[in-house]
Amino acid sequence: MALRLGDTVPNFTQASTEGEINFYEWAGDNWVILFSHPADFTPVCTTELGTVAKLKPEFDKRGVKALALSVDDVESHKGWVGDIEETQQTTLNYPILADPDKKVSDLYDMIHPNANNTLTVRSVFIIDPQKKLRLNFTYPASTGRNFDEILRVIDSLQLTDNYKVATPANWTDGDDCVIVPSIKDPEELKERFPKGYEEVKPYLRMTPQPNK
Ligand code: BEZ
Repeated sequence: MALRLGDTVPNFTQASTEGEINFYEWAGDNWVILFSHPADFTPVCTTELGTVAKLKPEFDKRGVKALALSVDDVESHKGWVGDIEETQQTTLNYPILADPDKKVSDLYDMIHPNANNTLTVRSVFIIDPQKKLRLNFTYPASTGRNFDEILRVIDSLQLTDNYKVATPANWTDGDDCVIVPSIKDPEELKERFPKGYEEVKPYLRMTPQPNK
């Protein structure tokens, strides 16, 4: 069965461009973005893997490790890395899992046979330090992903894990947040939101981002 939000993601051991990876050990106490691409030496994938490499300082700031995957083998990945680095002007600074036996692709349901029988789609899994699945989405092969959106979701998850807020449409770090509807006691509201809040509707209360 496909993984659902809140599920504990399965562990695996698989080869990568940085040697064998036992996923749980490799992830440690970090957040992880595990993302699959259809194939090495393809144009959109080349731009995606380069983009993730350039975003490493942003992932590091948030305690996130990146891990790519396709069904190609290590030799293929290693041959392709040079092209990524040359064309995207970056250094690949995270591992690419080699999954020719489809062990991880099957575990994480990354092959969607009605899209392509043998290649992984563009899946993304955001996994928290407790190894719980916090977000997944799937893009078609023809559409490169927006990795700024992935950073935005991580910002939202890390904020809302620590404060009784949710983040509204198109929120980015620093914007006003929504107070969760379960907080109703005026004293608790005052204590939790010392910067105040605006009650647009009884169920829609906006407050400055609490950790800014
Ligand atoms: C690409 O990365 O450009 C790509 C890969 C598979 C199918 C279509 C495009």
